[in-house]
Amino acid sequence: MTHTSSVSLKTPLLLEAIHCKPTPRPPIWMMRQAGRYLPEYQKLRQHHEFQHLIKHPDLACEITLQPIQRFGMDAAILFSDILVIIEALGLSFRFEEKVGPIIEPCLHTRQDIDKLKLLPVDQVLDYVKNAILLSLDTLKSYQTPLIGFAGAPFTIASYMIEGGSSKTLEKTKRFMATYPKAMHRLLQLISTATLDYLNLQVKAGVSMIQLFDTWAGLLSWEDFNTFALPYIQQLVGQYRDKIPIALFCKYSHAYLPLLQALNPRILSLDWQSNLEQMASSIPTHIAIQGNLDPIDLLCPIQHIKARLTKLLPIIQHRPGYILNLGHGILPSTPVDHVQYVVDWVHSTPSMKISCQD
Ligand code: CP3
Repeated sequence: MTHTSSVSLKTPLLLEAIHCKPTPRPPIWMMRQAGRYLPEYQKLRQHHEFQHLIKHPDLACEITLQPIQRFGMDAAILFSDILVIIEALGLSFRFEEKVGPIIEPCLHTRQDIDKLKLLPVDQVLDYVKNAILLSLDTLKSYQTPLIGFAGAPFTIASYMIEGGSSKTLEKTKRFMATYPKAMHRLLQLISTATLDYLNLQVKAGVSMIQLFDTWAGLLSWEDFNTFALPYIQQLVGQYRDKIPIALFCKYSHAYLPLLQALNPRILSLDWQSNLEQMASSIPTHIAIQGNLDPIDLLCPIQHIKARLTKLLPIIQHRPGYILNLGHGILPSTPVDHVQYVVDWVHSTPSMKISCQD
């Protein structure tokens, strides 16, 4: 199904929901919605490296728009990657089929960190700004807001130390234990770069920022408090009045009270969190986003329908709810299952509370 522009001039649902206003139905978008499960993305990918796609604003814009045109999602997320920020620290990355990201050179010692220099973010990542500007221009006719994003400092640091993806963060944890001061220097440097990077995105005109601390949920309570939380806090604190930030951290149910205490505008819940409980315990001035298990979308439609039906009490009674997954959409997801979810949300019963105010 192809969705074309709407004629209504109403505030986009996403922005209403971010402000915790009642909406006739919840806005929907999906983490990693612009990507490998889409045949139109795969087609482009046959001809270009991932790097080429993110560095060419016309192609990045085309991919950003794909889930809007195909499904009618209520928000676009910029096609890029959290790893681009490491280029502003003089490192580079590439993706290898079946391996994932490879970061070069990766960091082994204190001295490696002392050698890092922050390059001018707005020059190095000028291509991101151009991709945002072009996407915003094209999104105008769909009246769909654009979401920008960044990795939180801990997650970015973990990629720089591991040199790629890791399920245990063994190298990162050993590095933190051996060189805690150097780790803080690294985190502060990434945080400074990320502040500049968010500034670039906000100036270019994104409506919301998704901050991914994907791997911080693998930390112990003490390490989370020492190495992840203070740097998330810096970013949220600096940007609270400038742009709504959604905090996402995989396996974060234990840490949600800490994230909530930062008073973010939006909490993006992973699929293990008890959404019903969170919907009633998180203060109603904080919007919540989530949290279907991405694997639900690989299951039969009846199962998906049952999962969605369970969301009805939240949809109908909790202003400030954004329907999303609890992590990124998987490459093997059938596109018709994504369409089913979007169509279900579009036809879902209105909120039982007034949508006038
Ligand atoms: O959400 C979107 O659709 C916008 C684009 C986007 C990508 N990556 C494109 C991408 C976003 C928001 C990201 C964020 C990202 N990247 C995160 C945080 C979110 C999460 O999923 O936890 C992380 C940890 C990364 C790092 C990364 N990038 C990995 C581990 C990989 C390889 C495996 C994978 O998940 O695809 C990537 C590559 C990547 N980023 C692809 C895409 C479309 C696949 C590249 C390809 O075509 O081969």
